[in-house]
Amino acid sequence: MDAALPESLSARLETLSEGRSGRALAEKAQAISARYRAGAPSSRVIGDAEDALAYALTRMPATYAAATAALHALSIRAPGFRPRSLTDAGCGPGTASWAATALFDELETLALIDGDRFLLDLAGRLAPDAARTDLRLADLARADLPGADLVVASYVLTELPDAAALDLAARLWSAAVGALVIVEPGTPRGWAGLMAIRSMLINLGAVVAAPCPHLAPCPVTAPDWCHFVQRLPRSRAHRLGKGADAPFEDEKFAYLALVRPGVTLAPTAPRVLAPPLQDKAAISLKLCEPTGAVSLRRIGRRDKAAFRSVRRVGWGDLVEP
Ligand SMILES: C[S@@+](CC[C@H](N)C(=O)[O-])C[C@H]1O[C@@H](n2cnc3c(N)ncnc32)[C@H](O)[C@@H]1O
Repeated sequence: MDAALPESLSARLETLSEGRSGRALAEKAQAISARYRAGAPSSRVIGDAEDALAYALTRMPATYAAATAALHALSIRAPGFRPRSLTDAGCGPGTASWAATALFDELETLALIDGDRFLLDLAGRLAPDAARTDLRLADLARADLPGADLVVASYVLTELPDAAALDLAARLWSAAVGALVIVEPGTPRGWAGLMAIRSMLINLGAVVAAPCPHLAPCPVTAPDWCHFVQRLPRSRAHRLGKGADAPFEDEKFAYLALVRPGVTLAPTAPRVLAPPLQDKAAISLKLCEPTGAVSLRRIGRRDKAAFRSVRRVGWGDLVEP
C-alpha cells in the first residue's frame, strides 16, 4: 500500500501553487491548522481559494494516507469488492476520491459533494478525470446523497454535532450499495463517535469489514481508544506549509469499513491494536480477536515459524488466528 500522494496529484498541487508566495501559504496553513485544532468546522476555517489550497498542501497528505489505509483494509477483507461508482461526502479537495481511485481501477463515476465552494472548486481543479467527476455544492444535512457502490466520508463527521453525525451516517449507509467507509481523527472523540455509528449500523444490517474482526460490542474501554497511525513523508512544500522540520509526520486516525451482507468477506483474523513490542526474547502483540475480546499474545523467537509470521507485522495489520 502506497500512502504517499500520487505524483500526478502532487504535480497538480505544485502547479496551482506556482506564482504564490510560499511564506504567505505557510502562514495561511498554520492559521488553518490552529483553527482546526481548536475544533472549528471547515465553514469557519476556509474563507477563500488560498485557504483551500493551503488546506490541501498541509492536510491532504495526511488525510490521503488515512483514507488509503482504511480503503486498503476494506480491500483486504473484501478482495472481490470492485466498486464502479463512488460518493465522496464532504470531499474537501477530493482526498478520498484520489485514494479510492488509486486502489480501485474500475471506478467509473465519482460524485464529490461538499458545502464549501472553495474546496469543491479545488477538488474539480485537482480531479484526475473531470469527465467522470460530478461536483455537487450542497449541505450534507439536506442533500440527496447519490447511491454508489462505495460511499466515503473522510474527516467529515467530526465537524458535526453528535446527533447530526449519527443522522448523516445513517443516510450515508442508505446510499451505500456495497460499502461505506468512514474515516475520523484518531482521537477518543473520533473513536467514540464511530462506535455509536457502528452499533447503529449493525442494527440496520451492516457487517463490519474492518477494523473490527467481529460484530460484538467493542472490547476497548476508555481511557484507551481504538486508533491507528500512518507515517507519511513530508515534502519540502509540506514542511514549509506546516512550519515543521521533521521529514515525516504521524497521522492518527480511526475508521470503520462496513459492507452489505451480499459482499463476500475473507475469513476474519485478529487485528493488531497497538505498536508491536519487541525484546530480545519475543514480540508482544495487543490484538482484537474475532471472539470480540482484546488479548495479549507473546511470540517467542524460539518458536521460529510463529515468530517469522509476525516479525514484520505492524499496528493495524491482521495476523494469523
Ligand atoms: C476536514 S475537511 C475533510 C476533507 C476531505 N474529506 C479530506 O479527507 O481531506 C471536512 C470537509 O467536510 C465538509 N463539510 C462539513 N460539514 C459539511 C456539511 N454539512 N455539508 C457539506 N460539507 C460539509 C467541509 O466543507 C470540508 O470540506
